[in-house]
Amino acid sequence: MKKIAVSAPGKLMLLGEHSVVYGHPCIVTAVDQRMFCKAEFIERKDLLQINAPEVDVYNYAKSMNELGKGLVPKGAKFVEIAIKNFRDAHLFEDSIRITTSSDFSANFGFGSSSAATVCVIKALSELFELHLSNKQLFDLSFKTVLDIQGTGSGFDVAAAIYGGTIYFKNKGEVIENVKIDHLPLVVGYSGIKADTVTLIKQVAKLGIQKPELVEKIFFEIDGLVEKGKVALEKKDFDSFGKFMNQNQHLLSQLGVCIEKLDAMIDAAIRAGAYGAKLSGAGGGDCIIALCAKNNEQKVKKEIEKVGGEILDVTIHAEGVRIENS
Ligand code: MEV
Repeated sequence: MKKIAVSAPGKLMLLGEHSVVYGHPCIVTAVDQRMFCKAEFIERKDLLQINAPEVDVYNYAKSMNELGKGLVPKGAKFVEIAIKNFRDAHLFEDSIRITTSSDFSANFGFGSSSAATVCVIKALSELFELHLSNKQLFDLSFKTVLDIQGTGSGFDVAAAIYGGTIYFKNKGEVIENVKIDHLPLVVGYSGIKADTVTLIKQVAKLGIQKPELVEKIFFEIDGLVEKGKVALEKKDFDSFGKFMNQNQHLLSQLGVCIEKLDAMIDAAIRAGAYGAKLSGAGGGDCIIALCAKNNEQKVKKEIEKVGGEILDVTIHAEGVRIENS
């Protein structure tokens, strides 16, 4: 029976988290830690089968006409709803088995749910020989994320599809490639799993309580993203580091930073990094530090001393791709 395997990268937010949820711009880079998905036809009637051992889903089975209904295990949600949305858009009657695996832990905040969603839609697109465009992949994948989370900017979906480093704005209306060849980043994992939706709601609440403050913060973040794009393309790491620090300061004002992240960021700066900030929703997950090659080991050591775990990732990774056919 025909099968397709695809993979999509995880992501790291460089500048602009939270404000991007409100249509403001951000810069995100894809990382070489990938999500994999195999989609195959199976000789059964009216059946979706999912295996996703990395999130404890084993031989989960559902009637195709029941997708999205009843109890769905947490680890199968994005895959099931992605298939439902694909099936609603491109009617099919076949039975399918999906198997996913990942290079990275779902705890890192690398966007595993979005990467899994993109993988599933791309795999089905190829399995049914529809060869959807990146824009079509984005629309179906982002719809899936919103159906489940109810909120989000779609930047992580775009990173999984397009790869590289992108300037992203307005829920995907603007997706531009940022021309860089390398960026000397150190990534430190806090060991704490952040809940993105809770943090988005927390910022929304602050926006209701103090609208002027939040507007002002978003406006300042906009400026950093715009200047950051130019600095990145000029390889002006000194300036980009400063923008990271300023963005971090604004994220603290939004109330999404926690002690452990602060300690890791301070450690990186003390060790001589150009700049450091949390990456993603805050509340846990990872920090990123930009530092000169000859300083990298020192920065890593200092982050580890305050309890951070260094993750070995390469940025600017390739977007979603077919692994075989
Ligand atoms: C989470 O990684 C980044 C947020 O901006 C949410 C989003 O953009 O979807 C907080």
